[in-house]
Amino acid sequence: MRQKSKEGLEYILSEKSPLSESATTTLPQKREPIRDTMDVVMATINSMRDFGSAIRVYQAIEKSSVSISELINLIMKDPLLTAKILRAASSAYFGGTKINSMHYAIQLLGFNNVKNILFYQCLIGVTKNALKSSMAGFLWEHSVLTSICASYIYQIFPGVKEPTISTMGLLHDIGKFVNLELYPIRLAIKKDVSPYSREFDLDAERELFGIDHADIARLAFDQWKLESSLSQVIGNHHLPSNIETSYIFIDQKDLNYLMALFLANQIAKVFASEKCKQFVFIQKFPPSLQSLVDRKELEDRLSTGTFYSEINKTVSLLESYV
Ligand SMILES: [Fe+2]
Ligand SMILES: [Fe+2]
Repeated sequence: MRQKSKEGLEYILSEKSPLSESATTTLPQKREPIRDTMDVVMATINSMRDFGSAIRVYQAIEKSSVSISELINLIMKDPLLTAKILRAASSAYFGGTKINSMHYAIQLLGFNNVKNILFYQCLIGVTKNALKSSMAGFLWEHSVLTSICASYIYQIFPGVKEPTISTMGLLHDIGKFVNLELYPIRLAIKKDVSPYSREFDLDAERELFGIDHADIARLAFDQWKLESSLSQVIGNHHLPSNIETSYIFIDQKDLNYLMALFLANQIAKVFASEKCKQFVFIQKFPPSLQSLVDRKELEDRLSTGTFYSEINKTVSLLESYV
């Protein structure tokens, strides 16, 4: 894994990137979503507002650094969530011993894996079609990997806090689940298109769905009345590959989050599991931003045994709840 990490970073941070070859100083041309699309998108986002509430509750828990017993009380209000967390703690990764204590289960899994299960369970509750897609497993694996990578590199970016960036990592592609929820019919019609595979870029996404997942995220977080930094950062999470960051109009604090998220998103793809590797397309970190990244520190942070075992653990646990 050390070698994989080294080679991946070398590629992501290589000086020559598509942006340097055709540096863009204006926003990319975005097609306005067609009226019908907007109506259906907003209806779907509204139908998923319980997911927004779950994010709000979770953020409140994180901010007041809740005690483990308060977290257990919250989890145990939901029998399905309780069952999933106990099942994950009883999985082969931990030796397969049946665990009945929620307290012990949380200790074994770690806070971030509990968060992953909690949000996945919420997603099950608010979607009908999205998780049936053959890409759903890959998308969720990528989400949890981005969250881990974000939590290992956040210190490189001033003012970025671990709980916030790891949640942003987990939720950054939520718009893809909304799109998959929206248009199973479109997928059936255009059988030659495989949404969210390697070749399916933002343009292809806009062509098939009428809107891209970053714009959906912006709309959703605003509609669910979550803090503006979520919609600012996640709503722009692909922009650094298209335009110079001086043309991204967000405040400096959010820009630091955006850079951390962009980098974590790409590093996560380096660690895609064997079965998901075929779907990833790694974007390079813009050369104009590379002076802001302490490369040595980044390499050090991504070459620790703790980081690799966290990745192994999190990916292994997916089987027990996805
Ligand atoms: Fe994305
Ligand atoms: Fe992503």
